[in-house]
Amino acid sequence: MVSGKNILIGITGGIAAYKTAHLVREFIKAGANVKCIQTPASKSFITPLTLSTLSQNEVFSEFTTDEENPRWNDHVSLGLWADYFIIAPATANTLAKMCQGICDNLLMATYLSAKCPVYFAPAMDLDMFKHPSTQKNFLQLQSFGNTLIPAEHGSLASGLVGEGRMAEPEHIYQFVCADIAGKLPLKNTKVLVTAGPTYESIDPVRFIGNRSSGKMGCELALHLASQGADVQLVLGPSSQSPKHDNLSISRVESAEEMFQACMKYFETSDIVVAAAAVADYSPASSHSNKLKKDDGLPQIVLQETKDILAHMGANKKHQYLVGFALETRNEIAHAASKLKSKNLDLIVLNSLNDKGAGFEYDTNKVTLITKDNKKISFELKSKRDVAEDIVNTILSEIDA
Ligand code: CTP
Repeated sequence: MVSGKNILIGITGGIAAYKTAHLVREFIKAGANVKCIQTPASKSFITPLTLSTLSQNEVFSEFTTDEENPRWNDHVSLGLWADYFIIAPATANTLAKMCQGICDNLLMATYLSAKCPVYFAPAMDLDMFKHPSTQKNFLQLQSFGNTLIPAEHGSLASGLVGEGRMAEPEHIYQFVCADIAGKLPLKNTKVLVTAGPTYESIDPVRFIGNRSSGKMGCELALHLASQGADVQLVLGPSSQSPKHDNLSISRVESAEEMFQACMKYFETSDIVVAAAAVADYSPASSHSNKLKKDDGLPQIVLQETKDILAHMGANKKHQYLVGFALETRNEIAHAASKLKSKNLDLIVLNSLNDKGAGFEYDTNKVTLITKDNKKISFELKSKRDVAEDIVNTILSEIDA
């Protein structure tokens, strides 16, 4: 859920700060990038050395660093870097400052600059926690769109027992992950993706194939999964092996096997993205033994494979169908005609005439054409970024 995400953890001056070390570990273990900002008061409870060792990053606390060679710690770029900002522990003092916009330290300046979702995990003594001003501040911060991570009940550092303990680090971690998952735009959405080439067998050794690497389709499957979709990837022979909790892979070899696998998932899918380079023809019969030169020049009779996407287009009910068109001439006209003939909602046009785009590259340059003939062209980008553009377009089209 948070793998590869930038998590900024703000630590304020309360005894629970010592537990934040475990919180940093949880996010690091999950593959997130973590940076910490400490208020000056928090350094009495946990050292910057501990946090920088665990986060594998410099810890920020003051507006400038290193008196001999001063450098500005830019709160704006820290705020922009973060995908999520978690303030844990959040003391009564910091919560009040957040409500009032008081900007007297780097953490507060970053809070006021952050554009990402902000979470706060209060930690204070029982009576401070219950005080009407604290309770009012919780409500006020939630009205700003910040998310409260509920405090827990138990023994407090003062010796009192009650509510006010900072949530345990693993609970904070689980809370944030569940919150992120619950807000993902494709949660409860089933997506079928096809990717890779197909191999059509001539004999046990030889096949008819194509140059597709499967990278574009796999990046799409990964990005759809990261947006909360339950993704079923039907993947032809490819060295790609994308991994995500929301992603299952069915490996297939031929166009017929890809067709059969797709038919298993098509009806229950909400979105289908057909990125595979499916062979249009396969040998009418495949030899069970290797063809020998002595047998003479082989005559390979070809037959047409099933057009998987056209079949889905003809049978679609609620599904949003996305196809690809790989063209070398009259690109827009050919792609637009495939969109129509296969009854698609969106088509992704790759032109082999664009430098850096196509099978062998890690980059791609696409034009998207919608059912209502809107054309959206993108620059040459990494296949990962192209996947993000395609998914964003699907999301805005579905929403419209
Ligand atoms: N496609 C498919 N099954 C096939 C052939 C193509 O599902 N047997 C899908 C591809 O995954 C792609 C779209 O149809 O999303 C267009 O594929 P493309 O190879 O560009 O076009 P074709 O329909 O095969 O037409 P042509 O080869 O004549 O350009």
